[in-house]
Amino acid sequence: MPKSIDAKNDLPQAADTLAFFQDLEPPANDFLQDAVNGLSATPKNMSPKYFYDQKGSQLFDAICDTQEYYVTRTEIDLLKSLIPTLNKLAGPNAAIVEYGSGASVKVRTLLEGLDHVSSYLAIDISRAHLINACRVLADDYPDIAIGAICADFTAPIVLPPMSRENGNVVGFLPGSTIGNFAPKEASAFLARAAKMLGKGGSLLMGVDLKKDPAILNAAYNDKQGITAAFNLNLLTRMRGELGAKLDQNTFCHKAFYNDDQGRIEMHLQSETDQTVHLDGQEFTFSAGETIHTENSYKYGLEEFAALAETAGFRAKHSWTDPEGLFSLHWLEVHTE
Ligand code: SAH
Ligand code: AVI
Repeated sequence: MPKSIDAKNDLPQAADTLAFFQDLEPPANDFLQDAVNGLSATPKNMSPKYFYDQKGSQLFDAICDTQEYYVTRTEIDLLKSLIPTLNKLAGPNAAIVEYGSGASVKVRTLLEGLDHVSSYLAIDISRAHLINACRVLADDYPDIAIGAICADFTAPIVLPPMSRENGNVVGFLPGSTIGNFAPKEASAFLARAAKMLGKGGSLLMGVDLKKDPAILNAAYNDKQGITAAFNLNLLTRMRGELGAKLDQNTFCHKAFYNDDQGRIEMHLQSETDQTVHLDGQEFTFSAGETIHTENSYKYGLEEFAALAETAGFRAKHSWTDPEGLFSLHWLEVHTE
């Protein structure tokens, strides 16, 4: 049975089990401020980072198992096929640092396939899910130092000493999480990651590719309605954590490929004229109006390599699966 951590006061236990744990969870007031600002804006919007409370993380894991969401299985197969190459690039005793680690499933391919990984540091904003995933990993890989930082990875983070003790530092950013940033923000994120990884560091990234919009539209509108539940969970969080007065049943999930922008957009669409109450303020919606909750940018291979080069990396290698659905990139921190 996996151990489970739900509450703040489980922290000492997590610290005991893990080689390293740092709690930089953003304060609850950030969510309130961002929600008020997002609902005051035109068009209304929210950052996708607020999808991920424990329920949201579980729903994301369920999305990964849907037939329509090709991303997870395609990336894992591609990683497996590249292990001999990645082994040469990473070198022995690598220290892996994952940004947005979620359930830490994909990294298992690296922990098992590479020529001894010395440490794994998982960074994620979804605290309980992060701790649970890392405790299970620590049980499964007793010879690897497993650490975790609960933090918003858009803020600067200093790597702990465990990541610098042995082999090369290898950043890992799978799942096309980079696609949830607009290209300029993605470049700024990568520039911060280059500084954090430091001289000699590299970054292995999974990036979703532009493709037939029918495949993309299906991936974000799965038939079981799990992506819809994931999107609507944001409203559940706003009610439960922020005391927002709203009726979730009057909103629906909307996701579509925006060809001009090269991105999937997710929205929560109000089905009626209505008023949402939050923090003593009123936010009016007309029927059909949306809260824009996520962008998921899709790239061409060279388009992404060029973006990485603007951010202080050398784009050394890229690979795709046989169907050309998804890509992996090996970037190296550029030093003069
Ligand atoms: N790497 C996993 C999970 C990807 S889902 C995979 O490839 O399957 C994206 C993950 O990033 C989630 O676990 C979410 O909690 C985390 N995340 C999203 N925004 C974040 C932020 N601003 N800071 C830290 N973690 C974030
Ligand atoms: C985490 N991120 C890269 C996912 C994506 O595909 O943009 C989140 C997601 N949203 C809907 N389905 C999955």
